[in-house]
Amino acid sequence: MPTALITGITGQDGSYLADFLLSKDYTVIGMVRRSSTVTFERIKHIQDEITIIQGDLHDQSSLVDVMEEYRPEEVYNLAAQSFVPTSWNQPVLTGEVTALGVTRLLEAIRHVNPKTRFYQASSSEMFGKVREVPQRETTPFYPRSPYGVAKVYAHWITVNYRESYDLFSVSGILFNHESPRRGLEFVTRKITNGVARIKLGLTKELHLGNLEAQRDWGFAGDYVEGMWLMLQQEQPRDYVLGTGQTHAVREFCEAAFGYVGLDYRDYVIQDPRFYRPAEVDLLVADPSKAKRELNWIPKFSFTELVQLMVDADLKLVAKDIS
Ligand code: NAP
Ligand code: GDD
Repeated sequence: MPTALITGITGQDGSYLADFLLSKDYTVIGMVRRSSTVTFERIKHIQDEITIIQGDLHDQSSLVDVMEEYRPEEVYNLAAQSFVPTSWNQPVLTGEVTALGVTRLLEAIRHVNPKTRFYQASSSEMFGKVREVPQRETTPFYPRSPYGVAKVYAHWITVNYRESYDLFSVSGILFNHESPRRGLEFVTRKITNGVARIKLGLTKELHLGNLEAQRDWGFAGDYVEGMWLMLQQEQPRDYVLGTGQTHAVREFCEAAFGYVGLDYRDYVIQDPRFYRPAEVDLLVADPSKAKRELNWIPKFSFTELVQLMVDADLKLVAKDIS
């Protein structure tokens, strides 16, 4: 069975993708960056089944070394500085990792084994101030954050290496996808964890930013299958993955608080600290190309996703306080 290298395996998507590839009998190599504390929370259940190696998207030689040692047939580049607000505080780091890191990895592939299939984790943030609704593969980009700008570079360098060197390199333009493994700083998880803490009496309020922003939210487990499907095609092509439905942050609050019998208006406080210098107001995917060519259809509805995340956070918070 093939070997796959996942960068960003300790993140939300990396952990689900590792689960998925193991279920298909892949040999999974996970690249992690060195840190003073271990960040294996999301992969501890599969730690014995995968090979963890150290590497960093800042460091060219570490990428060449891993390609030479493991010679993976597939590389999934999920590593990034992925939190949009941080990209205004650390724009240069965001560019180094999220943009130039992709070129470093592509160079390692090109020199060590140009037959390797490469997946780049591109983002609906590239559409930013959207030029059309819904957004599809041909919609022009208009990024609104240093993160979005970095992802546009990463997208085009992936396309460029395909066209320049004939690499099988594809860009998956994924709309927001969430899960109980989502980082606590992202709005969905912040809300579901806040709901659990309020319901279990640990706090009385939840401070949020712009409640009117609209996102196309799906379940992360569905999206990692789409990544894999893109690398199984005969031709390397780019695809949008999303549900085709959009909801405001306010609706997410309504659904999450409502699920445990609470009214979000009694607890949510709009706090300017969480507003962004430039906002992405509306994202909604047209995933018809992925449906047509990959037969990819997300299984989780918005309501199921909200309930899954609230249930998981209720369990987690209850465990913490017991
Ligand atoms: P995430 O949970 O924030 O995970 C990011 C991963 O990147 C972590 O494993 C992190 O390692 C790693 N990383 C950061 N800097 C690195 C570096 N310099 N070298 C090596 N690894 C580094 O993100 P996610 O939600 O799983 O998203 C995965 C990818 O998809 C990201 O590229 C993101 O931008 C993109 N994306 C996500 C979504 C979404 O809705 N989730 C949508 C579109 C695109 P540590 O654990 O050490 O921090
Ligand atoms: N994080 C956060 N915290 N967002 C808030 C808050 C808050 O307190 N209040 C309102 N929001 C709004 C943000 O202004 C934004 O419009 C929306 O909620 C979603 O924010 P995030 O959950 O932080 O995600 P994102 O859409 O900025 O970025 C995520 O999705 C992208 C794909 O579109 C990340 O996963 C990116 O890495 C990914 O590329």
